[in-house]
Amino acid sequence: MIVKKFLLLLFLLFFLSACDKQQSAKELDGKALLEQKCASCHDLNMPPLLDEKEVAPPMMAVAFHVYDFIQVNDESQKNSKAIDFVVDYVKEPSIEKAFCDKESLKKYGLMPSLKTSVNDDESRAIANYIFSHFTPKKLSEIMELKIKYDALPDGEKISLKYNCMVCHNKEKDLVGPSFKKIQEKFATNKKAMKQSIQDGSRGKWGGKATMPSFNQIEAKELETLVKWIITLP
Ligand code: HEC
Ligand code: HEC
Repeated sequence: MIVKKFLLLLFLLFFLSACDKQQSAKELDGKALLEQKCASCHDLNMPPLLDEKEVAPPMMAVAFHVYDFIQVNDESQKNSKAIDFVVDYVKEPSIEKAFCDKESLKKYGLMPSLKTSVNDDESRAIANYIFSHFTPKKLSEIMELKIKYDALPDGEKISLKYNCMVCHNKEKDLVGPSFKKIQEKFATNKKAMKQSIQDGSRGKWGGKATMPSFNQIEAKELETLVKWIITLP
């Protein structure tokens, strides 16, 4: 179950990180810095993986929390005020400044100052990234993707896990033949199809492209995958 969840998150984050890269072509890479400087304590997943042994609030919670609690007269200043808060907090955390409730502060203890390992420009790049990445809008997009993903048949999930769909499509020929054609060829021979997937394939469909071997797929997964392809409507 946990492995499944982890893979799902990887799959989702892959999509989202691909989008993020295009947006922030700033000098300092806030995402990379966040991973380097903050991930040892803060969980960076969205939604966070629930971990009883966590030593700090998940970064999504920090971002939502700071954004909700920051006081501004003019809404348009909210983002820059929130960024200023983070830059200052990374340098000099204190109980007075923390938006964190007393219970949580007790549970986690105060964050240590990172002023010797993170400079202001780096914090600013990190904070910039945090407030553009951890947003309620993105969270709901991820949850929508997750709901869609959860609703897929198990065989299709396995096909995504092993990247079959990079080269195959259900209806159309891509790099490899469509699953529809493959279904026709192996309709009465599941065993041969399993063998082909495990061994890989070349030269059987008249193209030049090769399918690599997939001999690492567990027997149970392979059974589910092949059954899914054979019973596709
Ligand atoms: C050594 C562990 C550790 C590291 C590394 C760390 N933090 Fe924290 N952080 C904490 C803990 C614990 C808390 C909760 C207690 C608190 O608010 O001080 C916290 C809280 C925060 C808060 C305050 C949230 C609030 O609601 O008041 C911010 C902002 C924050 N961290 C940002 C960062 C950023 C940005 C980085 C990376 C540059 C980072 N942290 C790295 C442990 C860490
Ligand atoms: C890198 C691209 C690529 C990936 C990834 C890939 N395939 Fe293929 N697949 C092909 C190509 C190309 C062919 C046709 C090869 C040939 O002509 O023999 C093919 C053929 C097949 C065949 C027919 C083999 C035969 O003996 O006729 C099956 C079944 C198949 N793929 C299933 C899968 C499954 C299931 C996955 C994921 C586990 C997968 N493929 C991943 C490219 C790929």
